Amino acid sequence: MTEHSSPGRGDLEAILLVGGKGTRLRPLTLGVPKPLLPTAGVPFLAHQLARARAHGVRRIVFATSYRASMFAEAFGDGSAFGLDLHYMTEETPLGTGGAIRNAADALTCGPDSPVLILNGDTLSGHDIGAQVERHVTRGAAVTLHLTEVDDPSRFGCVPIDDDGRVTAFLEKTPNPVTNLINAGCYVFTRSVIDTIPAGEVVSVERETFPGLIEAGERVLGYADRSYWLDVGTPEAFVQGSRDLVLGRLSSPALPGVPGEALAMPGARISPEAKVMGGTAVGAGAVVESGATVSGSVVGDGAVIRAGAVVSDSVVGPGARVEAGAVVRDAVIGDRAVIGPGNELRAGARVWPDVHLPECAIRFSADT
Ligand code: GTP
Repeated sequence: MTEHSSPGRGDLEAILLVGGKGTRLRPLTLGVPKPLLPTAGVPFLAHQLARARAHGVRRIVFATSYRASMFAEAFGDGSAFGLDLHYMTEETPLGTGGAIRNAADALTCGPDSPVLILNGDTLSGHDIGAQVERHVTRGAAVTLHLTEVDDPSRFGCVPIDDDGRVTAFLEKTPNPVTNLINAGCYVFTRSVIDTIPAGEVVSVERETFPGLIEAGERVLGYADRSYWLDVGTPEAFVQGSRDLVLGRLSSPALPGVPGEALAMPGARISPEAKVMGGTAVGAGAVVESGATVSGSVVGDGAVIRAGAVVSDSVVGPGARVEAGAVVRDAVIGDRAVIGPGNELRAGARVWPDVHLPECAIRFSADT
């Protein structure tokens, strides 16, 4: 990773937005907020925190709401991570802008200082230091990280002019004018945060950014083509874990060396099982002889029985996939049991504690 020198390196403060309910990731997020889901062996946020630290961030304010207390339980005061962590909670969610405004009360920097804002559900390999430096040297109000995607129609798009200024924030459309989209990492000048109304529900994407552009404020884009992923859906979440395990995105928080599989302490993988494609196997989980597990997240204490096949899926903590069952592109909730002979495919989601009896779900009579 490139270490970039930027003004005030080491003094940079950040706000981490982690108050969302993560509805698209249900049932995984029923008990655990999205940013704390185990990803390549550690809570998702551990990867983000380690990358932010590598770029000179030391003090981070968590903007929490949904299951707020779980964040402090996981990360405490941050000293174990070389960080100084603080928590600001919204009684009712204030949206991305309202959350930033609320969390800013815990910042210590002056009005002219840059403040880094991170969405708690993106994995990014971009050079945060270079983004901050662009913001400071160009005297911007806000500098947004933008990423180029093949199909921008699924996202709002963010066109920039030749000078790198953001010209509009456009809603989803079948004919996007640019491939650049908002990548969910912003640098705000502190005084600009103070202009967001306090105690109100505000969206930065729908209100703050368009308002700043309309007012003629300098809103810049920092566009690049580094690794980027929004882990908001089950498919993307599994991909994020897989990419970290395989080393497609390097993370100082990966608890091991990159490779085909990552086994956490106490995991028992039979030598006759095939575990590959960036699979993470949680602490105390078991993969029996003849099972094949690829590109998946297997939770702590989960069991994959003999001959079962699991691919591109999440098997929640304590869940069981019984002998010969097939699970592809699916989510198995915590402690659920997939009985022998079942076949689950794309998009299937099994709720926690559900027991699927033998051969309850098949895709054709002869398979
Ligand atoms: P979905 O419900 O699946 O869309 O996920 P989400 O709730 O996380 O929403 P979204 O992906 O749009 O949120 C982007 C980031 O902002 C995530 O890191 C959220 O945790 C965070 N976020 C969204 N709304 C709020 C809020 O009202 N308060 C706080 N503190 N954070 C929020």
